[in-house]
Amino acid sequence: MTDTAIPAVHASEPNAEGYREFTIGGFHFRRDEFFAHVTWPTGTHVMSIDGFLRALQRDVAWDFFYGTVNFDGVFGTVNHYGTVDMFAGRYNDSYRKAELDHFENFPTPEIRATFEAMLDDWTINGFDPFASPAETAKPFGVKTGSNTAAVTRRRVTASRMVGVPGDEAIRTDATHPINRMFADVPQDEPDVDAEPGFEDEVCAFNLFAYLSRSDVTWNPSVVSQCKASLYCPTTEEYILPIIHGNDRVEWFVQMSDQIIWDVQDRDTGAVRAKVTMKAGDVAAMPGDIRHQGYSPKRSMLLVWENASPELPELIRSGKTSVYPVDF
Ligand SMILES: [Fe+2]
Repeated sequence: MTDTAIPAVHASEPNAEGYREFTIGGFHFRRDEFFAHVTWPTGTHVMSIDGFLRALQRDVAWDFFYGTVNFDGVFGTVNHYGTVDMFAGRYNDSYRKAELDHFENFPTPEIRATFEAMLDDWTINGFDPFASPAETAKPFGVKTGSNTAAVTRRRVTASRMVGVPGDEAIRTDATHPINRMFADVPQDEPDVDAEPGFEDEVCAFNLFAYLSRSDVTWNPSVVSQCKASLYCPTTEEYILPIIHGNDRVEWFVQMSDQIIWDVQDRDTGAVRAKVTMKAGDVAAMPGDIRHQGYSPKRSMLLVWENASPELPELIRSGKTSVYPVDF
């Protein structure tokens, strides 16, 4: 085993398939041509490398996101905003009852560095974990090259709003061609006639046109921010590669097409609901569930996040409901 840079990433020399193996705490990660193999002191787990890399890509890009990122029903991370739990079987009733579950807490920079290194080493030339399966090469086989540009692409995070001078730019043919599935989305932009002196304050943009040019799937990006209120729209195709466990309420606005959501209890995985959202539907995902979406056609989804840092503790202590409104 060799140590590199600080924070230390514990990586082996390339294995028989050409991939490095990674160790953090009691967890060990190995990939071969088709699978990711995870071991921990009380168990082992195997996932398709396709699903594993798609989940890993999002955990890295979102810096562990809000709450829980389940790679599947066994393995994942919980964000404590400064530290991160890595777990196996922790939110799986069968593993808990068999006492085979395990978790360890790491400083965020340590787990971030390990995950970034693993994502870069295990992603081969041509595979883009953020892309629709219809728009990328396959992730399988022995190590052949890499795709660092794709796995390190910059995430859109507007500090005020897309299109405001000095903030995130609107997308154009030169930077973001219209996606094949959104060829019919109108591209006109709103007319804005600001009073002289207010050109930086009065702004507008065509969100449908903006999203029609997204080259990634299941990747909420921040297009507007007002204090803790974040508009995080995203385009979806195929399956959300993670099962997101909420630590706060999330509002969903289905802007086009359709997504089917499997909703489960956050901690046990027990089935709670199946929600089919059609264009125009609005839903609030409670703060105690986990959810995974299926999008048969590329669709547009607006995720409205409340980024208030006190929310997880308010919910944990019962001072705030897991529902946004009681009827
Ligand atoms: Fe969520």
